[in-house]
Amino acid sequence: MQLHAHRIDSTRIYPEERDFTADKPLRLEVLMVCWINKFPERLTMHHETLLETHNLIKEFKGFVAVNDVSLKVQKGHIHALIGPNGAGKTTCFNLLTKFLTPNSGRIVFKGLDITKDSAAQIALKGVIRSFQISAIFPNLSVLENVRIALQRSAGMSYHFWKPESSLHHLHAKAFDLLEQVDLLEFAHKLGAELPYGRKRALEIATTLAMDPELMLLDEPTQGMGLEDVARVTALIKKVSENRTILMVEHNMKVVSSIADCISVLQRGQIIAEGSYEVVSKNPQVLDAYMGRSDASLEGAHHA
Ligand SMILES: Nc1ncnc2c1ncn2[C@@H]1O[C@H](COP(=O)(O)OP(=O)(O)OP(=O)(O)O)[C@@H](O)[C@H]1O
Ligand SMILES: [Mg+2]
Repeated sequence: MQLHAHRIDSTRIYPEERDFTADKPLRLEVLMVCWINKFPERLTMHHETLLETHNLIKEFKGFVAVNDVSLKVQKGHIHALIGPNGAGKTTCFNLLTKFLTPNSGRIVFKGLDITKDSAAQIALKGVIRSFQISAIFPNLSVLENVRIALQRSAGMSYHFWKPESSLHHLHAKAFDLLEQVDLLEFAHKLGAELPYGRKRALEIATTLAMDPELMLLDEPTQGMGLEDVARVTALIKKVSENRTILMVEHNMKVVSSIADCISVLQRGQIIAEGSYEVVSKNPQVLDAYMGRSDASLEGAHHA
């Protein structure tokens, strides 16, 4: 890291024999060097890890659904949370998106503790969960859906009594978003009229309208046919530029093709972490999915 390297170089430039007392800024710098050398992980954490959890625990009436989960989501990554049925993925995701409160543990975003923040508070900080399909307004056009999301993002409420003309300035941005998610040709169709896969694309567009720094996707390809899966996978990859994505995903083809890092959950605990190449060869992971460690992870999805 730039700063780190610079400071370490500084210790070499100024040998220890030098009297620092007369030179306050320099002395401060040396103190920083000592601190950085003692706790290098603290500096690294702020620069590279966007979201992290420390020992998250969630119990449901004595049943531990999320058991001591410590995650690190690196800035710029597509990070996938996978695991067999009942592993605790959704519960973990609900903790991160504030739908549930942990029994213990901490959630840290950009170095700040957000454990006690509400969903609305984390949204203001740039952590946005993709809206559920039910949140799409079925009787408004695709364009209007995106435009409302843009208004919400700008802190404006939707003033139904305002003349249509006052909303036109949002059109350019809305069309831009529709183009990004390949929905231009559907702009004037009603939300309800969209095919399933396109609804998810609209959901992604309305999330992008908030310009999230961390975008959380909950099984984005669930229930889709092959063609839609491929389209939404490519879309996630495309919109991941300049942002970080954390997604719960069952489909191993999706995970293997776009995830930079994968955390595998089993019975509430992380059993493996790393690239697809690494986790897909992990005997414990293969065992968790297939019940035998010589199996292939490919096709382990149940979507
Ligand atoms: N509100 C709840 N009350 C009681 N138990 C719950 C609750 N929510 C989840 N669980 C239990 O916690 C465990 C983890 O559930 P979770 O839904 O997080 O799993 P998952 O990994 O998302 O599974 P799937 O792949 O089937 O979606 C399961 O055994 C589930 O029955
Ligand atoms: Mg689930």
